[in-house]
Amino acid sequence: MRIGRRDFLGSAAFGAVGAAGAAGDSRDAAIAKAMEAITAAIPKAEADPERPVCHFRPPAQWNNDPNGTIYYKGQHHLFYQLNPYGAVWGNMHWGHARSRDLVNWEHLPVALWPSKEKGEEHVFSGAAIAGPDGRPLLFYTSIGKRDPEQWLAMPTDDELIRWEKYPENPVVSVKHHGGVDVDEWRDPFLFREQGATYMVCGGNLRPSGGRAAVQLYRATTPSLTEWKHMGTVFEYRHRETRNFECPNLFRLGARWVLLVSPHAPCEYFVGGLDLERGRFTPETHGTLDPGTSYASNISRDGQGRTILWLWGRTETNPEKAWNSVMTLPRILSVDADGFLRQTPAKEFESLRGEARKLAGIALRDASEPLGGVQGDCLDIEAELTLDTARAAGLRLRCPETGKPGIEVSFNREGFLTAGNAKIFAGRAGKIDLRLFLDKRVIEVFANEGTAAIFTTVEGAPGAMGVHAFATGGAARIESLRAWPLKPARFSLDSFRA
Ligand code: FRU
Repeated sequence: MRIGRRDFLGSAAFGAVGAAGAAGDSRDAAIAKAMEAITAAIPKAEADPERPVCHFRPPAQWNNDPNGTIYYKGQHHLFYQLNPYGAVWGNMHWGHARSRDLVNWEHLPVALWPSKEKGEEHVFSGAAIAGPDGRPLLFYTSIGKRDPEQWLAMPTDDELIRWEKYPENPVVSVKHHGGVDVDEWRDPFLFREQGATYMVCGGNLRPSGGRAAVQLYRATTPSLTEWKHMGTVFEYRHRETRNFECPNLFRLGARWVLLVSPHAPCEYFVGGLDLERGRFTPETHGTLDPGTSYASNISRDGQGRTILWLWGRTETNPEKAWNSVMTLPRILSVDADGFLRQTPAKEFESLRGEARKLAGIALRDASEPLGGVQGDCLDIEAELTLDTARAAGLRLRCPETGKPGIEVSFNREGFLTAGNAKIFAGRAGKIDLRLFLDKRVIEVFANEGTAAIFTTVEGAPGAMGVHAFATGGAARIESLRAWPLKPARFSLDSFRA
């Protein structure tokens, strides 16, 4: 039986074709194999004392981008690029987890797999949106054919555990572009506006010498199985030969925000979107995070918050049974000047142990241990001021002697630095810092979310010291509170194929 595109979503027959037919069998075998490989790697991943414990991570093996982030029936669903077969990039599947509080997670079975029998090699990044019956649908880039294609998958249960692919994929192909030649075309992201559903995809415009660009599409059926190309919604005239990956275009209060991943730290633009003309016009522009985070995604939760998800990259080490995390979910807002703010979800306060409080500490051209503050998993809030000093800050994961694992500082010009990453944080002379140290990674927020950095931490296992320092003169810790962080819970109870 042929299932038409238009009646596909309402068709009871689809369940039978998907679950019991040949497609269902190849799915089950592919997912069972992937799950077995991950399960076998779990003991090694869990035995590594340097693996982060508060940031989201898969049960084991490699992850990259957050995908299909969506809040559904009281749960935050997070899908992600996953290689079940190693701690390096490859064999892209979609892993899946859910959480009620953004902090503690339940790992769920692998959601999407490459359909080899259909010529699919990788299930690349993509997004989720509520379908006509309210249940989320997943859109992603299918890699394997001559050109990338945008494919659709839908859940067969309300827990969103089991997914089937739309039998008439692709839903968007390069043919949709007519004369527009888009290279490196991938990573659909969806939004709804005034009753219509839109998709954006990244890439670059080939004939013009490779200008990074974002393509816009509009769904022409309520089932979201048919799409019309609306043109290039944004292109970057200042950056040549690079393509945009993982574009996210969404409304934030009265403004529109575009996030892009340009093979360098993610950038954001805040501006206006004209859907009649299919054009985004930026008014402000900034670096989202100058550290090692990448490949953003967005969700909206039941409290109306807009949540930013990012891949928290760590160094690739094929010897390990894990690689990377997600950054802490960050709440986005636009400040009075039209720039983006990012603050960690409040829920992370639930991991705090007993506070250690310090105040009025004078720092003078030296590095000194902070009384009673120690650890490799810490949540620290501090207010620092520069007097005559050029810069001041904290050094973390300090061994008894030798190099600290990381230095977090700010300087007279108002720049915040964490390790190798540096960004303007707005206010000279004074800084409010919020810092999450989580074993081999750290996330730093400054001045009510004006600046945010995720990066990796070096340092010997067992290096637990926290020092404060100033350079070139005097500075002060006006106040500091430090909490040991308890590990988040990652349940494997529902991680079964
Ligand atoms: C970004 C990215 C995406 C792609 C995915 C593949 O990190 O390169 O463009 O879909 O990763 O894993």
